[in-house]
Amino acid sequence: MRQGRRILLPILGFLIGGAPIGLSFLSAQDSLKNPYAGNAEAAKEGYAIYQKMGCPGCHGAGGGGGMGWALIDCIWRFGWDDATLFRLIKGQIPEQTMPRGFGDVLTDDQVWKIITWVRTVNHCEENVIGQPTAATTAPTSPEVAAQEQEKACRLVAINPSMIRQTLQSFPDYASTYVILYREDVTKPIRSLEDIALSKLRVGVNADTPVVDLLKKAGASNVTTYSLSEGSLGQIVTDVLDQKIDVAVVWAPLAGFFIWQSDSEHRLTAIPLAMVLTAPTPFHSAEASSMTYVQRCQQFLHGVLESYGVVPAQVLTAGSNAH
Ligand code: HEC
Repeated sequence: MRQGRRILLPILGFLIGGAPIGLSFLSAQDSLKNPYAGNAEAAKEGYAIYQKMGCPGCHGAGGGGGMGWALIDCIWRFGWDDATLFRLIKGQIPEQTMPRGFGDVLTDDQVWKIITWVRTVNHCEENVIGQPTAATTAPTSPEVAAQEQEKACRLVAINPSMIRQTLQSFPDYASTYVILYREDVTKPIRSLEDIALSKLRVGVNADTPVVDLLKKAGASNVTTYSLSEGSLGQIVTDVLDQKIDVAVVWAPLAGFFIWQSDSEHRLTAIPLAMVLTAPTPFHSAEASSMTYVQRCQQFLHGVLESYGVVPAQVLTAGSNAH
């Protein structure tokens, strides 16, 4: 009987005129079954991956939620079946707000192991689709919360569209650029008028107003970096690796990639005391209500502050006597 139905459905689909779609839909659904269901060893591995990937930053160490979205409750955003959870973690649900970048780094196998773990902490009799209520977890210590927050923000780095969203949400620093150099190798440079600039290897992003300023300042050894998806951070990396001596970079971009890098070399960031426009690709800032983008923005603000970078508006207002 079961066999019969399986064969009959596609035939019906064919008769209605949707055969190819009907067929592929059925087979896709069939293959989205967890091969590790109930396997305790796989669940353990799944939890290790869950931790390593920084999932606790949003879902809590035990899945109880942090910024919300508990995995242990019985309310689900899109559904609780294997196929739905798989597609969500893979980043394949168009309406999802959960970062899509995991789909590029996790193998199918790893995703199934994580789902196997989720099943071990979720024991719901009745599941519903709806809006999760605020998290009801025991308060974590500020240090643990900060660590988890940092992990969640690091995930922004694996997803170019999230980097853009986060960097776009820096209203204070939108028009601020910094002079960036390695403290241990380059002599202090305080402004673009510094004559030392003409002798140094200077890096600058294309499509930024700084390109013209550098020309006027007489810098001759200038490398231009494109602002394309995969290479946004190259200019900062090249300063750290001494491929260039100085970079003049949009502050949010500098802050992001300084924080992102694991280099032991300390950079100096000197904000330019002038108001410029944000780089062209970041111009069309679309307001984002995503809490994690906002939180990472806060986090990155902290990085800029720790480097003594203040918004250009503040600098120009206070530096008239200059
Ligand atoms: C930046 C925050 C964030 C991170 C990091 C994150 N998620 Fe999510 N997750 C969400 C949001 C938001 C939802 C709700 C669904 C949606 O709106 O996309 C969700 C939903 C889920 C759900 C379904 C829960 C439900 O109630 O519908 C699972 C399972 C899940 N995430 C697993 C993971 C795993 C595994 C990782 C790590 C690989 C991870 N998440 C990392 C934000 C996050």
